[in-house]
Amino acid sequence: MTTKEKIFNKLNSHKETAVSGEKLAEACGISRAAVWKAIQALREEGFNIEGSTNGGYIYRKNSDVVRSDVVKDFLVQKYPGLKKAVIKCFKTIDSTNTYAKKLLSENEKRALDKTVIIAEAQTAGRGRLGRTFCSPEKTGIYLSVIYVPSDRKIEPAKITAFSAVAVKRVIERFFDVDAKIKWLNDIYVNDKKVVGILTEGFTNFETGIIEAAVIGIGINICTKKSQFSKEAQKVAGSITDKKDFGISRSQIAAEVAGEILSIFNEKPQKVIREYQDSSFLKGKTVEVHPIIDDENGVYSATVIAINEEAELVVKLKNGSIKKLSSGEVTLHQE
Ligand code: BTN
Repeated sequence: MTTKEKIFNKLNSHKETAVSGEKLAEACGISRAAVWKAIQALREEGFNIEGSTNGGYIYRKNSDVVRSDVVKDFLVQKYPGLKKAVIKCFKTIDSTNTYAKKLLSENEKRALDKTVIIAEAQTAGRGRLGRTFCSPEKTGIYLSVIYVPSDRKIEPAKITAFSAVAVKRVIERFFDVDAKIKWLNDIYVNDKKVVGILTEGFTNFETGIIEAAVIGIGINICTKKSQFSKEAQKVAGSITDKKDFGISRSQIAAEVAGEILSIFNEKPQKVIREYQDSSFLKGKTVEVHPIIDDENGVYSATVIAINEEAELVVKLKNGSIKKLSSGEVTLHQE
């Protein structure tokens, strides 16, 4: 363990109370000057370490540092049952989902259950239907959760809908906003899309069984309009316009991952009700773009409900009712 790590662990264990330089020096077996140097290095990494009036140091948990040990700390504190989760953090990566799928293709899948890959920026972030997902640094958080249930029962619709509910809960826990879920799993705040979710399955070709799921989540926390592509600007927005929003992105990522990995054990009816109650589309007129061939092509319809299977129930102009389990729905102005 490096001196810097030792100092960090010591400060971290003091739960936002001051520790004197002398105590740190003694505990780590180094000089006061070496303590000061390590503190400076940690500050340069982004850790918010205050110097208190009596000469001690206080590590503030709202530090905007995304690091595996910091994320793990937040995760286990809130979800003690997830001690075995593995966290991998990257400053920049092409795509956390691509990385997760590579891991799954090269390793025993069960061993990767509850692996969380987090990036501060992505150079090739992927969205649904082959789109790109704009992932600039410092303004958002991008993560993928690998889920490999022991009973090998993966229900794609459930995973997708439940993940959206999990992310919505975390956003509302941290920010004073009303987050809505736009079927299937986009999250909207103030009529703008602030979260995109891309769920991908890892299917065994021989058995046809989906053996693992990769749930990829991109959250625009304070991304500016100019940072989105022209196309994305039409729908994308951010949760807050405050650059210093005062919450550690490590904590947000930890709670998103924790909530997702826990929500699959909750009573399905309860989660589906939450999903239904959060609907952004209920009562709205939408354009339906079926992914799978549909004799109607793109058509206009009014959303009447979301049913127990997380299907979107729409009424067409001719009065007929359709239940959609896949596809893309856009609002008229999009
Ligand atoms: C969408 O809105 O179409 C889904 C966007 C999903 C983006 C996330 S960011 C983390 C993960 N890695 C990716 O490449 N994509 C997902």
